[in-house]
Formats: sequence, C-alpha cells, structure tokens
Amino acid sequence: MKEKLRRSGIKIMASLIVLLGSLSYIMVLAVLNGSLGFVAAMGVTVFGATGVAKALGLLGLCAEIPLSWGLIIGLAVGCGVVRGGLRYLEQYSNHFIAFKLLAVLRDKIFGALRILCPAKLESKQKGSIIAMITSDIETLEVFYAHTISPICIAVLVSLAVFLFVGFVSSWYLALVALLGYLVIGIVVPLISSKALKESGVNYRREFASFNAYFLDSIKGIKDIVLNNAEREREGEVDRRSDILLKETKKMKRGITKASSATELLVSLFIALSLAVGVLLVHFGLLDLGKMLIGVVAIFGSFGPVLAVSALPGNLTQTFASGDRVLNLLEEKPAVTPVKNGKTFEYSDLKVDELSFSYEKDAPVLKDVCMHAEKGEIIGIVGESGCGKSTFLKLLLRFWEKDRGSIDYNGIDVDNIDSDNLLDNVTMVSQTTYLFDESIEDNLRIAKPDATQEELETACKMASVHDFIMTLPEGYKTQVGAMGDNLSAGEKQRIGLARAFLKGSQLILLDEPTSNVDSINEGMILKSLLEQKSKKSIILVSHRESTMAIADRIYHVDGGIMQEVK
Ligand SMILES: Nc1ncnc2c1ncn2[C@@H]1O[C@H](COP(=O)(O)OP(=O)(O)OP(=O)(O)O)[C@@H](O)[C@H]1O
Ligand SMILES: [Mg+2]
Repeated sequence: MKEKLRRSGIKIMASLIVLLGSLSYIMVLAVLNGSLGFVAAMGVTVFGATGVAKALGLLGLCAEIPLSWGLIIGLAVGCGVVRGGLRYLEQYSNHFIAFKLLAVLRDKIFGALRILCPAKLESKQKGSIIAMITSDIETLEVFYAHTISPICIAVLVSLAVFLFVGFVSSWYLALVALLGYLVIGIVVPLISSKALKESGVNYRREFASFNAYFLDSIKGIKDIVLNNAEREREGEVDRRSDILLKETKKMKRGITKASSATELLVSLFIALSLAVGVLLVHFGLLDLGKMLIGVVAIFGSFGPVLAVSALPGNLTQTFASGDRVLNLLEEKPAVTPVKNGKTFEYSDLKVDELSFSYEKDAPVLKDVCMHAEKGEIIGIVGESGCGKSTFLKLLLRFWEKDRGSIDYNGIDVDNIDSDNLLDNVTMVSQTTYLFDESIEDNLRIAKPDATQEELETACKMASVHDFIMTLPEGYKTQVGAMGDNLSAGEKQRIGLARAFLKGSQLILLDEPTSNVDSINEGMILKSLLEQKSKKSIILVSHRESTMAIADRIYHVDGGIMQEVK
C-alpha cells in the first residue's frame, strides 16, 4: 500500500510552525543572526574587492565613498570576526528551539497515546508507534533547526544583495542576481521536491516498516528459535533490507541529481553576471571598479539560496514524518475520556442489554445482562475467545459499548469521570507488565505514596511477599529487562498486589490464578474471601477451584451471558 501524505507541504510546515508557540521569538533571532552573518561574510569579499579596485586605481567609487586603506582592511577583518559570532548564535538558537521542541513533541505524543490507549495499542503495530517516537521526531529536528530559518535567511539576504548591487553597482547586474535567486531558490526546489516527494515518502515508509519488523523479530526471538524459524526470518529481514536499500538508493540518486543541477546553475549565473558586467563596462554603462564590487557581491551571495535548494531531499522526509506525527496528534480516540463527569463511590453494578463488537457485523457480546452488589464475588466462565476479557474492558470503558447500559450506582459508565472510574474499579489483566525498575517502584504505580507496611500487606494478600523476601535486595530488587527474570506466576501475583494496594472498591480479575500453583492459589483465594465483606470482585477463570469462591457465576457462550443457576 502506498502511503499518501494527508496534507500538503505548506500545510505541514504551517502546522509545525504553529507548534513553535512561544519559542517563535527565538526563531526570529536565529533568522536575524543568520541573515546578518551572511551579509558579514559577503562583507569580507566585497571589501576585499573594494581594496583591489582601489589598488588598481579603478574607483570612481572611491571618490564617492572615500575609504582609507585602514578602514577597508579593518572592515573586511571585522566582517569575518562578526560572521563567526553570528553564525554561532544562529546555530545556537536553532538547536535550542529544535531540542526544546522535540521534548515538547515527545510529551504531546505521549499525551496523545495516553488518550488513544489502550484501543490504539491493541489495534496497531506497536513497532510503528515506537518508530514514530524515535525516528520521526528526530527527523523533525531537521525541520526546526535546518529548514525554517534557511528559507527566511535566503529571502532576506537575497533581497539585501539585490538592493546593494542595484544601488552601489548596477541594476542590470542586480536583475541577473535576482533571476538566479528565483531559479535556484524557488524553481529548482519546486521541481526537485516534486520529483523527490515520492521517493522520500517511500523511503520513510520502508524505513519505518523495516524497523518495526526488526524490532518485532528481536522481541520474539525466543519463539523464533523455539520454532526453528531463523532461516525464514533472516530471509525476510534480508528481503526487507534489500527493498529499503533500493528505496535509499533511489532517493539518494534523486538528491544527487538535483544538487548537481543546482551547482551547475550557480556557475551559470555567476558566468552570466560576469558577462553582463563586462558588457556594461564595454559599453561604458558602468565603471570597472563598481562592476568588480557588484560581481563579487553576486559571486558570494548564492550560499543562502543553495541552502534552500538543498532542502527538498530532507524536506520530503520531514513532511512525511511531520504528517505522521500530526496525524497521531489529531487522531480521534476510540474512546474519549470523560472530564468533569459524574463521580461515585462504588456500591453496585448493573449491566443491561450490553452489546459490543470490535468490527462491524462481528458481535462479541450480545444483550448481556448482569449485576453485582457490594460484598459479592461474581465468577465469569466461558470458552477461550468468547469475550470475557472484552467484557471486563468494557466495564472500565477501555472501549465504548455499542448498545445497552453499564450502570455504577445507577450512573451510566459513559457519564462517569474517567479518573473517578479508575479510582473505583481496578483490573488485573491476563498479562502484567513490569517496568525495569525495582519491585517497590513497580508496586507503587498503583499508589505512589504507599508506605512500606502497605506494600507488604498487599503483597502478603497476593501471596508474593515471601517470594520477594527471598530476592537479594527484597523490595528494592530490580526487575530485569522486560521482566524476564520473574516467572509468569510471580508477575501475576505482583499484578494482584498492585490491585490490592490500589484499594478500589471493585476489583476485576482476569484469570488471576492461571499461572499459580494450587498452594498459592489457595492463599490468594483466601485473601479474596477476606476482602469480600468490603469489596466486590468479578473473577474470570477457567479453573473450577477458583470459581469455588464465587457467590454467583455467569457463563458466556456465543456472546450471550447467562447466570448459572
Ligand atoms: N482489539 C481487538 N480487536 C479486534 N478483535 C479483538 C480485539 N480484542 C479481542 N478481539 C476478539 O474478540 C473476541 C473476544 O476476545 P476476548 O479477549 O474477550 O476473549 P476471552 O474470552 O477473554 O478469551 P480467553 O479466555 O482466551 O482470554 C476474540 O475473538 C478476539 O479475537
Ligand atoms: Mg481473556
């Protein structure tokens, strides 16, 4: 599938500039420094040429603007020194903006993902989101540090040189220069950006897809080895790598063609201005000294437009990255969080005629009715894939229901403040993710200010305290990368401890004992029974032993939920 940009280049640039916000004054500073820097750089050659003209005694100009030797040399050297300082300031401001903004953008993307999750992370390849957070944002650095200001600088400097050559030397020469700027700074970039647009977008797409595939392969390397599927994977990595290489070559070839054409054009315009200058002198329309200054000023003035014409190669990639980032920032979440909604303190749950499907015409749950009172343990059983986890996710509004109602204390879940809902209802999902931090920190995400005593009580309830105490540093032990150092059962019990620590009134448990042996299962169930008087628990499990503690059990089959009498 070919990726098309959703917005035009101009629209992307405008949207990215809007993101600058209060940093825009630093951008103005960068442009001013950059423009003055170029003018200073040209000052070195122009004053040099003035010196040469004076030495050759050519200057009618010297009679008009009497410059002493000392002044000419001083100004030439001074321009050189000032140029250095200004260039430093320009680069400093550009990079200051770029990196500051990258931090802001990462923050925005995280915020957007926070709202789009968990639906987004369930439905899209995680790899492409990771690629966006890493490489797309890096590409935008190029935009902020090396794109906006070169364009502004090119406009300002070209205008300044046009006026300078016109007033000091000749308007004919100034017009030749202007024509050169327009062709090199606008016509060439427009033509080459059109030619490079497709290859840039294709390159980024292949780059992102290769990264995602490679990352996925590394994550699943254990399963690849266990299934003896290395050769197929390697073959596919090679194939994708070849495609990427082909796209890279195509893009680089295009960039090289464009840049050689531009260099050629610069040489042509320099030759043209020299020819016009010589003709003007020949026909007595300009004296040699002024011609020298004008032509030298034009020689040194193509730097800024050259910088602009070098942009398209980067720019197409930047646009593709910018487009993807903007898409994510503007993406409508599957579920919009409820802000300033109703609040409640859980006492009962009533679900009525609830229907839901992930995809049209493929209902997962049909007209589900159930209820749970405070102090009850409700069991849910059913075949794998029948929609048990989906039901729990709907109770937490991870997805929006299609029809029916989910009422907490008589208030529909769609009207309840999202934060308040998560305070009242906690879920321990089938897989618990542990961060590469200490066990203590992993527990504290449920309650950041928990005391050591609270941590230990929760872990005892989840039957994981004794295990933690056997670890070398107890609660301060670091969980290895990806939590691979802990067994599935240990992770599951830490997940349970998190839920106990959170202290919500309704706890949803998705297979809480699937990876736990019968001794630990017994201890966990005992803790759940102890909680019973204070809380409600909805328990999904295949295990009959676990279901034994349920007060009432619902059975799900073909999307229909019925109470088992
Ligand atoms: N994000 C999703 N997008 C599309 N379909 C999904 C999504 N998540 C789950 N499904 C599908 O919905 C159906 C119900 O899935 P669910 O995870 O609720 O089953 P389950 O009863 O919890 O199964 P298990 O006992 O194996 O955990 C399945 O057919 C599953 O493939
Ligand atoms: Mg499930």
